[in-house]
Amino acid sequence: MNINFPIEKTIKKRYSVRNYKEQAIESDKQKAIESFIDSLENPFGPHIAFHTLDLKSGPTAQKLGTYGLIKGASRYIGATITLEPMALEALGYEFEALVLYLADLGLGTCWLGGTFNRQSFSNAMKIEAGKIFPIITPYGYAADHKHFK
Ligand SMILES: Cc1cc2nc3c(=O)[nH]c(=O)nc-3n(C[C@H](O)[C@H](O)[C@H](O)COP(=O)(O)O)c2cc1C
Repeated sequence: MNINFPIEKTIKKRYSVRNYKEQAIESDKQKAIESFIDSLENPFGPHIAFHTLDLKSGPTAQKLGTYGLIKGASRYIGATITLEPMALEALGYEFEALVLYLADLGLGTCWLGGTFNRQSFSNAMKIEAGKIFPIITPYGYAADHKHFK
């Protein structure tokens, strides 16, 4: 994993984004995100699997539940683990590296561990039975305004 952005500055700049613009992510950025995900690693050992989802691609564009908290997002990333010591720490480490990388690209994110429909995301991301699926984030360009919720 190659962190070639100013990490402290990015931490200070980042905020949770729950309201997204329609604006598509450029294909070179999307490719860079996918290779960053492939390069993720952690000092704890456990393997973290990442699952990306584009609600606009595929034969049936879908709408998945985030209980009205996330608006306008069409891309999501989820992470899964198997139950083993330090797996959640490993997940936290890699997921935070990823949201900071996305922030450096000018993209918003919001950790969602509770307010999403785990079953529908699990189906859409084709997550294997028996995997633990603690977290997802939407990602994309932030809308200018925050919504009331
Ligand atoms: C492990 C974890 C789980 C979270 N789960 C949710 C969630 O289910 N729904 C949500 O709206 N925000 C969730 N958040 C986002 C926090 O509420 C967010 O960090 C908080 O709004 C602080 O905002 P900031 O990131 O702009 O400082 C989660 C954050 C973390 C670290």
